[in-house]
Amino acid sequence: MSPIILRFLIVSLYFTFQITFISSICRGFCGNAAVRYPFGIDDGCGSPEFKGMMNCSNSTDLFFQTPSGNYKVQTIDYEKQTMVIYDPTMSTCSILQPHHDFVMSETQNAVITPTQDTVFALVNCSIDSPVLNRYSSLCFNFSGHTCDELYGSCNAFRVFHLYTNSSPPCCFTSYSTMKFMNMNILDCSHYTTVFNTDSLKGIGPLDWLYGIKLSFAVPDTGCQQCFKSGGSCGYNVETEGSLCICNATVNSTRQCALAGVAADSAMATGWSQSPKHVYHMLLILYLASVTLLSIFF
Ligand SMILES: *[C@@H]1O[C@H](CO)[C@@H](O)[C@H](O)[C@H]1NC(C)=O
Ligand SMILES: *[C@@H]1O[C@H](CO)[C@@H](O)[C@H](O)[C@H]1NC(C)=O
Ligand SMILES: *[C@@H]1O[C@H](CO)[C@@H](O)[C@H](O)[C@H]1NC(C)=O
Ligand SMILES: *[C@@H]1O[C@H](CO)[C@@H](O)[C@H](O)[C@H]1NC(C)=O
Ligand SMILES: *[C@@H]1O[C@H](CO)[C@@H](O)[C@H](O)[C@H]1NC(C)=O
Ligand SMILES: *[C@@H]1O[C@H](CO)[C@@H](O)[C@H](O)[C@H]1NC(C)=O
Repeated sequence: MSPIILRFLIVSLYFTFQITFISSICRGFCGNAAVRYPFGIDDGCGSPEFKGMMNCSNSTDLFFQTPSGNYKVQTIDYEKQTMVIYDPTMSTCSILQPHHDFVMSETQNAVITPTQDTVFALVNCSIDSPVLNRYSSLCFNFSGHTCDELYGSCNAFRVFHLYTNSSPPCCFTSYSTMKFMNMNILDCSHYTTVFNTDSLKGIGPLDWLYGIKLSFAVPDTGCQQCFKSGGSCGYNVETEGSLCICNATVNSTRQCALAGVAADSAMATGWSQSPKHVYHMLLILYLASVTLLSIFF
């Protein structure tokens, strides 16, 4: 093998290695969206309870992943601990799309759930729908609005009016209804979701906010301390024990080294890191010697 090719191979190997090495640190942004504790988009970042919920695979848009699909994250309010997501395949006042269920996992139901002021609007329900019969108490009006308004004000829902010349049944309900009855059982052909319903008094459906607002719990694992010391909160992928990720070479249990304070377990994690370091050094040495050899021969 010619030294040039060998050198090329080593250089590419080195860069591949370095890229995986660098990407092991937690990214704080996905496009313009800030990604902070308890969320994480890289393995071992954020809280283990939120593992696998966020996806930034296209590098520009953040997606919230549930068993029923990926939902685009519109905003995250870390102060109020709320997040707004949007299902691009759901119906709104301006577009009619076939329903698909909104399903969250058991873990998600425990740590991040739709807020009280997020309303699910079920439209074009059959007269046999459980929400018109046995479970009619699950339907309500919000801020002075009835669900029939959707048929009158929204271009998308006007179509139901045209076919029957009357409004088919509909229902405003909460997430808990969706949790125990799927859309087939509910027997409504379409649905949409509206959030911040408490502030929509006197505002028509055209100007409602469509999407789902979720409220999340932040596990108390002393993350503040780590964050203040310049680290990102994460966890050990195998044990799920919390970690303070300082930089590519140091993980501590609580915080990163501040001036004069030693990172308490830096030494310990440093040990597990040493094979990586040795590998790193050897590659550099090897690269240097091959470069030197190719210059002399
Ligand atoms: C620090 O923890 C993160 C998350 O578990 C892991 O990806 C990374 O490899 C660890 N780094 C070190 C230096 O141990
Ligand atoms: C992340 O979301 C994108 C876009 O919806 C999807 O194509 C991709 O498969 C997801 N990645 C993972 C790891 O689930
Ligand atoms: C990422 O996904 C969003 C939403 O699906 C899309 O609008 C955007 O163009 C995608 N970006 C890239 C770089 O693929
Ligand atoms: C409304 O629901 C009925 C069944 O109850 C269905 O046959 C009809 O196609 C639906 N209308 C539209 C426009 O999807
Ligand atoms: C909603 O308001 C309308 C009109 O005031 C009323 O007829 C209807 O019974 C109310 N629905 C519920 C579920 O309270
Ligand atoms: C990584 O963080 C540790 C602890 O905060 C610090 O002592 C060390 O100098 C940092 N290393 C680099 C390369 O920044």
